[in-house]
Amino acid sequence: DGELSLSRSMINSSDKIIRKGGSSIFQHAVEGWKINSSLVMEIRKNILQFLDAERDVSVVKTSFKPGDVIHYVLDRRRTLNISQDLHSLLPEVSPMKNRRFKTCAVVGNSGILLKSGCGKEIDSHDFVIRCNLAPVVEFAADVGTKSDFITMNPSVVQRAFGGFRNESDREKFVHRLSMLNDSVLWIPAFMVKGGEKHVEWVNALILKNKLKVRTAYPSLRLIHAVRGYWLTNKVHIKRPSTGLLMYTLATRFCDEIHLYGFWPFPKDLRGKPVKYHYYDDLKYRYFSNASPHRMPLEFKTLYVLHNRGALKLTTGKCI
Ligand code: CTP
Repeated sequence: DGELSLSRSMINSSDKIIRKGGSSIFQHAVEGWKINSSLVMEIRKNILQFLDAERDVSVVKTSFKPGDVIHYVLDRRRTLNISQDLHSLLPEVSPMKNRRFKTCAVVGNSGILLKSGCGKEIDSHDFVIRCNLAPVVEFAADVGTKSDFITMNPSVVQRAFGGFRNESDREKFVHRLSMLNDSVLWIPAFMVKGGEKHVEWVNALILKNKLKVRTAYPSLRLIHAVRGYWLTNKVHIKRPSTGLLMYTLATRFCDEIHLYGFWPFPKDLRGKPVKYHYYDDLKYRYFSNASPHRMPLEFKTLYVLHNRGALKLTTGKCI
C-alpha cells in the first residue's frame, strides 16, 4: 500500500534475522537490493509533515539577536545566551536551501567500517554526511574522505581534542576544520547544558582563523519533530542518535540514501569483535543506562527500511 508501517512484528522478525546471523542472509539482502522510489517519496512526504529539513537543519541570523536568552531543548529549565560570536556565525539562509542530490552517503562511526574497503564507494556519492568530526585521512581506504556535511556534538572538544587545553589541541582542531573547506559543520548547541563553553571556543577559533566552514546550528524544534515522526511510525526512540537524525534530514535532499558505518553491536555476523568507533577506543555504553540512545532499535528500523528499498544499508565489504 506504499505506507511506511514499522509494526512490532516486522521489527521483531528482523531482530531474529540479525541475531541468527548467517552472513549469507545479509549478503543476499544486499545483492538483491533495489531502490523503491515510490516508498522514498512517501517517506519524504510523511517526514515533511513533521519537519522541513531545509528550514530545521539550522537556525538563521534573523532567528535571534545577540543577547537573546533561549531555553535548552532537552533541559527547559536551563538557559543559554546567544553571544555575539555565535550570532555572527549563524547562516543568513539555510545551508541546505535548494540543494538536491541523486545519491547521498550517511556515514556512521561503527568499527564495522574497518577493512570494509568502502572509501571509494562512499566518496562516489553526490553528497557525503559524516558524524562527530570523525577522522578520515588515516582511514581513507575504508571510510573515504569526502565530507560535505559533518556534525559535531560539543562533547567532541573534550573527547577528541583534549578540551583545547594545549595549543597543539587547538591547532589539530583548526587543521581538521580547514580540511573541510566550505562544507557544512553542524553543531547541536541548543540541546542540553554542558557544552556551551566548548561551543564558544569552537566559534572563537573559527572566527579567529577565518575558516571557510559553513556553520549550522539545528533548530529548537528539530529533535522533537524527528522523534515525533518515528513515534508515529511506532519506533519508540526518545533521543534519536546523530546517525538517525542525519538519515531523517537526508530524506528531504537525497533520492537515494546509502548508509555505512551503522552497526551498534559488539560482534559481526561471524562473531568477530567490532569496535564501537572505527577511530577510537570508546566502549559500547548503550548496554548500560548511561547512553540515552537506542541504537539497536534504530538499526532494526533501518534494516526494515533497507529490505523495503527505502535506503541501502552496507554492513559488509564494498567490492
Ligand atoms: N553508529 C552505529 N553503530 C556504532 C556507532 C555509531 O550505528 N557502533 C551510528 C549511530 O547512528 C550514531 C552515528 O553512527 O549516531 C555516529 O556515531 P557517534 O559519533 O558515536 O554518535 P552519537 O549519536 O553522536 O553518539 P553520542 O551521543 O554518544 O556522541
